[in-house]
Amino acid sequence: MRYRSQSVAYWYFAVAMALFGLQLVFGLLSAAKYLGPDPLLYILPFDVTKVIHTNLLIVWVLAGFMGGTYWLVPDESRTELHSTKLAYIQLILWTLMGVAAIIGYLFRYGTGNKLLEQPLPHKIVIVICMLIFLYNIGMTIKKSGRFTTTEGVLLLGLVSSAVLFLPALLHYENYTVSIYYRWWTIHLWVEGVWMMIMGSFLAYLLIRLSGADREVMEKWLYVIVGLVFIAGILGTAHHYYWVGVPQYWLPIGGLFSALEPAALVGMAIFAYSAMRRSGLAHPNAQALHWTIGSALFALFGAGLLGLAHTFPDINKWTHGTLITAMHGHAAFYGAYAMIILAMISYALPQMCPGRPEKGTTMGYWAFWMQVGGMFGMTLSFATAGIGQVYLERVMGMGYLDAQLKIQVHFLMLIATGTIFATGVGLYIFDFFRYRPVLDRADDTVPVSGDVGNTEAERGTV
Ligand code: HEM
Ligand code: HEM
Ligand SMILES: [Fe+2]
Repeated sequence: MRYRSQSVAYWYFAVAMALFGLQLVFGLLSAAKYLGPDPLLYILPFDVTKVIHTNLLIVWVLAGFMGGTYWLVPDESRTELHSTKLAYIQLILWTLMGVAAIIGYLFRYGTGNKLLEQPLPHKIVIVICMLIFLYNIGMTIKKSGRFTTTEGVLLLGLVSSAVLFLPALLHYENYTVSIYYRWWTIHLWVEGVWMMIMGSFLAYLLIRLSGADREVMEKWLYVIVGLVFIAGILGTAHHYYWVGVPQYWLPIGGLFSALEPAALVGMAIFAYSAMRRSGLAHPNAQALHWTIGSALFALFGAGLLGLAHTFPDINKWTHGTLITAMHGHAAFYGAYAMIILAMISYALPQMCPGRPEKGTTMGYWAFWMQVGGMFGMTLSFATAGIGQVYLERVMGMGYLDAQLKIQVHFLMLIATGTIFATGVGLYIFDFFRYRPVLDRADDTVPVSGDVGNTEAERGTV
């Protein structure tokens, strides 16, 4: 750790890890309900466990993004954070908001708008946290006067995420209007501006871990941002097919969303070329596993499995089925969970002196059990989804009858989900088992790949 204030990231990561673990408890509970009988039917029905599962995901992923940013910005701008106090206030507010929202859902206190179920007071706290965060980061960069392209793309992603949350603050009586604007937040987050956050974390990690040339990496970032803008914005229309808007959205959605995987292909090539050009010599091989793994799994889960059901002719059969859950899991995990785990794996040895830099045996088990488990979960959802589409949509069987026929896939989901959750459990245990020493900066920490580059190459302005 080159700057003492980077240590705030540790606490963001710690909160993210705890909530990640809790998210899986509710995931397994939701999966078990598909098999029935459900002794918790009147206390914790499926809709409640699913809302808690997906909301915990959003809260921990955003905490991970914030922690990753608080780690990255001082390193890139070569300065201490503007205010660690503000960063801690923000974290406390964020955690309290997240926990209060979960408790609220247990008592059915929510807005019912999928993934944006947080009630208005919670949403206002989210806005306050975002403002504190952006102010703190902005002031840090301003103070240092050093602003790299990697940081620029990260900031573009973060500021746009905050702006795109604004439609979620409004309430619309008409369901079509409500759903129309819901995608401005949800789709433009996951398939738009969050990809910029992922791209900048990826660039940062590749520069540090593989010693790749900053100039080359940052050129790729421009390509990715361009592709996200070209495809992602109008690609929103792939959610408008059946919601009651005019028909012209069908071809627009089909065409532009089919271009969306290009950015993910770009990121995978970007990671591969960094590896080819500069090798894998960095001692922290564990962080490299997560970094390259994220680029590849995102290409599979978001790019390939997104494309699989994005054309209107296919989506009319698969819309809102377990095919959506298949893609949602693989995409979210590959693109966002894995890149956060990569940032944590890179930063952790610098904050916990006892931790071996190359990673731990337990850490590798965690990696492979998660990747294998999530792959198995994706296949379980896929096979369940294909069965469901055929029985329900093609044959016209009732929803519950079709569910009874696909039970075996849920047994597979629980088995593979347990392997995955064990991998996550190992990662969390491995995270907490070395004591952090956070009150000192260490100038001797080698920053591979960033040392040889000249100021001009660093893209300094
Ligand atoms: C032990 C692991 C997990 C299990 C057993 C599990 C199970 C489930 C189940 C049963 C649902 C409800 C699907 C439906 O609506 O029919 C669900 C929804 C969802 N889960 Fe998970 N999950 C797990 C881990 C994860 C992880 C790690 C992520 C993200 C990184 C994730 C993201 C989601 C999302 C985005 C949805 C909503 C999907 C949709 O509405 O189509 N889950 N999960
Ligand atoms: C990292 C990137 C991505 C993530 C995290 C992601 C995640 C998700 C999630 C969670 C949903 C369910 C949303 C809901 O029903 O509320 C969804 C739906 C969908 N996604 Fe993605 N996605 C990503 C990229 C893509 C890409 C690149 C494509 C197309 C090429 C795509 C195509 C779709 C389609 C067509 C649906 C709607 C499914 C339906 O009709 O039920 N996604 N995605
Ligand atoms: Fe989308």
